Amino acid sequence: MTDQAPAPYAGPERVLSGVQPTGDLHLGNYLGALVKFARLQHEIPTFIFVADMHAITVWQEPAKLKQQVREIAAAYLATGLDPKVATIFAQSAVPEHAELAWVFNCVARLGWLDRMTQFKDKAGKHKERESVGLYTYPVLQAADILVYKATKVPVGDDQKQHLELTRDIAQKFNNDFSAPGYFPLPEPLTQGPGARVMSLRDGTAKMSKSDPSDNSRINLTDDADAISQKVRKARTDPDPLPETMEGLEGRAEAKNLVTIYAALAGQSEAQVLAEFAGQGFGAFKPKLADLAVSVMGPIGGEMRRLLADPAEIDRILADGASRARELAAPTVAEVKKLVGYWAG
Ligand code: ADP
Ligand code: TRP
Repeated sequence: MTDQAPAPYAGPERVLSGVQPTGDLHLGNYLGALVKFARLQHEIPTFIFVADMHAITVWQEPAKLKQQVREIAAAYLATGLDPKVATIFAQSAVPEHAELAWVFNCVARLGWLDRMTQFKDKAGKHKERESVGLYTYPVLQAADILVYKATKVPVGDDQKQHLELTRDIAQKFNNDFSAPGYFPLPEPLTQGPGARVMSLRDGTAKMSKSDPSDNSRINLTDDADAISQKVRKARTDPDPLPETMEGLEGRAEAKNLVTIYAALAGQSEAQVLAEFAGQGFGAFKPKLADLAVSVMGPIGGEMRRLLADPAEIDRILADGASRARELAAPTVAEVKKLVGYWAG
């Protein structure tokens, strides 16, 4: 007898992603995630949520959390997500995420979670003091994705491992419950020069909300002056730009600025070098600052305008949640049957 490959998932393509409401969004979030959301919504049905359940895996001030959710929603809208096209909602408004996450907690293996580098990075030396939620965080992420049977997940490079875990969970669930092809095996969408934007102060560290230096990142809410200042102060080296990317090996900060320019201009890094080869950072930085201001400046302004009308944001999120639930509820009902739960 030969083993037959299990039937693959045969349902429709769907895009899903989310961002945690845990601080100001920056250029890395924008290029690694948000710009892709706006682009994809016109190609494939797109579901984008604010991950407030993930946020509380580390302490969040309860009085501030709702406003933090609105800020991320405003960033989604300001970067071009259209609530009539994409489904935009808060994770905690769709309880099916948590229901599916419990089942997945029983599918995922401890050994799989032990390998997660994001947990190791966040927990540092004192993992016994972290919440259990921080440890099972990637299991909830798998539920976020699979409750909509999403097939494509636009994220930055740092999320690839969580997507591998999501595929492992989907495969084991399909196998364990004799449901071949029930869940898809979703793919991360990380292409493009913005998948890993580095700190402006240290070209070997990821640009991150949690970096204590505000000069390490360009925030979505920075005004034109702040953006230009940060680009001007960015760490570089005294050498001129080379003709090819190979010439940037060992020059992490220089490489990062070229990558950022390319991503913001919608060009390849090679095109950027073709234009600037031979020039030093004294010439390149003002061009990069102008470009960053022209792309990022209007986003901050639009966010402030949207946040002045929180009732409108709340209405958009409520509408998104009810559309999301229409899709999530049947999945959870089917899963309950497959698992053999008492309550269906
Ligand atoms: P942070 O790491 O700043 O806390 P999040 O973990 O909330 O950001 O990430 C939200 C989204 O932005 C994810 O898709 C993540 O992969 C992406 N992202 C975060 N930092 C970067 C970066 N420096 N470059 C590219 N994408 C990033
Ligand atoms: N873990 C993601 C991050 O840190 C946020 C997230 C939660 C997510 N659930 C998701 C991203 C589902 C994509 C799909 O950025």
